[in-house]
Order: sequence, then C-alpha cells, then structure tokens
Amino acid sequence: MFVVKIAKVIRHSKNIATVFFDRKIPSYPGQFVMLYLFGYEEIPLSLSSPNSVTVKAVGETTRAIVKENFEIVGIRGAFGKPFTISDKALIIAGGIGIAPLKYLYDFLKGRGYHVELIYGARSAEELIWINEFENASFATEDGSFGFKGTVLDLLKDKSFENFNRIYCCGKEEMLREIYKLLKKKNCLNKAEFSLERFMRCGIGVCGSCVLENGLRVCKDGPVFNGMDLVDFEVEF
Ligand SMILES: Cc1cc2nc3c(=O)[nH]c(=O)nc-3n(C[C@H](O)[C@H](O)[C@H](O)COP(=O)(O)OP(=O)(O)OC[C@H]3O[C@@H](n4cnc5c(N)ncnc54)[C@H](O)[C@@H]3O)c2cc1C
Ligand code: FES
Repeated sequence: MFVVKIAKVIRHSKNIATVFFDRKIPSYPGQFVMLYLFGYEEIPLSLSSPNSVTVKAVGETTRAIVKENFEIVGIRGAFGKPFTISDKALIIAGGIGIAPLKYLYDFLKGRGYHVELIYGARSAEELIWINEFENASFATEDGSFGFKGTVLDLLKDKSFENFNRIYCCGKEEMLREIYKLLKKKNCLNKAEFSLERFMRCGIGVCGSCVLENGLRVCKDGPVFNGMDLVDFEVEF
C-alpha cells in the first residue's frame, strides 16, 4: 500500500463526490484501486481518471469519503482487467457506473475516436459531468433531466451495427437487461460489462469476489466480455 495526498474534492451532489489524488496512478480505464480511508475500511473503487475516484455514499466508508475532509488515503493497485480500447464506441452508464466510463470516455476522445454515450439515473441530481460529454443521451426515471425513463428505454430502438465496442457499467439489474437485449441482437461479442462484487484482497487470492462461473471479479474482471458471461441474465 502507498499513501497519496488528496489534492482536491469536487462534491457533485449531497451523495456523490470526486476525490483527486496528488499523483496519477499507473492504470487503464476500467481498472480499480483498493482505497483505505484511515479509521474506516478498505474498499474497491474504479478510477474515474488516472488520479481520481468518484464515489457514491452508500455505507459507512463511502459516506465518510463523500462528506468528510481528509488529507491522505492508502492505495493498492490499480488492479483488474481494463476495458479494451476501440474506435466507434457506445458507452452505456447507469448511476455511479459512470465513474470508470468517464475515464474511458476521456481516453477514447483523447485518441480522436467516435464515442456515443447513453447515461441514465434516478434523477438529475445523480447525473454528473453532463456538460462534459458530446453525443450524449440522458434519461432520468423522474423526468427531471433528459428522457423520462431508463437507459433501456433509450436502447430499445437503437441500432448497434455501427459500433465496434459497447461498454456497460451500472446496477446489475440494468446490466442483465442490457445483456439480454444485446444477446438477442447477436452483439454480445462486442459488449463489455464492468461488474462489482464484495472484495477483500483485490488480487485474486481470497475468493470473496468469485462469480457463479468461477471467474474472479478482481482478477479476471472487473471488465468482462459478454461472451464470458454465459447466461448472465439468469445466473450469477
Ligand atoms: C471493482 C469495483 C469498483 C467499484 N467502483 C466504485 C466506484 O467507482 N464508485 C463507487 O461509489 N462505488 C464503487 N464500487 C462499490 C463500492 O466498493 C461500495 O459501494 C463500497 O465498498 C461500500 O462500502 P461502504 O463501507 O460505504 O458500505 P457498506 O457498509 O459496506 O455497504 C453499504 C451498502 O452497499 C452495499 N455494497 C457494499 N459493497 C458493495 C459493492 N462492492 N457493490 C455493490 N454494493 C455494495 C452493501 O450491500 C450495503 O447495502 C465498486 C465496487 C467494485 C467491486
Ligand atoms: S477479492 Fe480476493 S479473490 Fe477477488
């Protein structure tokens, strides 16, 4: 573990914040760090840029990260399999699933690649960086911003032929529905899903993040090709 200083915190809303470190972590989009907040737990967090994590408060440690002021954190990583990089990309994000996808979006745009984004959340308050994306469609369940409905509603009539890669991150219920849709459209081979499981070691040793199919989210993922998640819509 090494210690990094906190350079800046951006509070996007009362429950979501981006914490910037004073240095870049050698990494690729889709990888995560094990972040230790002294006095709390060590938790897995995707990098939202080479030097930041973006966190939603759901429990004790994430709440402390979002709401309290602190000067240093412990970091292990970056760990895990990143997204594969491709031109003509469709990025599909639900809620805080935007965190690793923001890193990916910036990475792809930095190479001049064509990127489209479909991004949904419960309400406008949970949509972040909305002014930083081009070619983006937004959905909120309460209709407070963009289309009133879900990401799936926006995907129903979408043609996937022109995309080389489809990147997805968000709640697992949403990912299962996207998986089902892409399977029906024979597009699973070009889809990548970033998954979450409870993690302890983060390096493939302890077994706490193993999926039904035997793959470890920390080491074999967190990014999985659709073809590696056979029957993801019913199992796991
Ligand atoms: C590879 C990976 C990347 C992640 N990236 C991010 C990220 O970029 N931003 C972010 O905000 N969160 C991310 N998470 C989820 C984050 O790790 C959990 O929200 C955090 O561990 C919860 O800790 P806590 O002490 O605040 O809450 P706890 O008190 O541990 O739990 C509070 C609630 O959150 C649920 N929870 C706990 N851990 C997870 C988990 N891993 N996944 C889903 N629900 C969980 C619990 O079931 C409980 O309902 C990621 C998880 C993984 C595995
Ligand atoms: S967290 Fe230990 S094996 Fe994945």
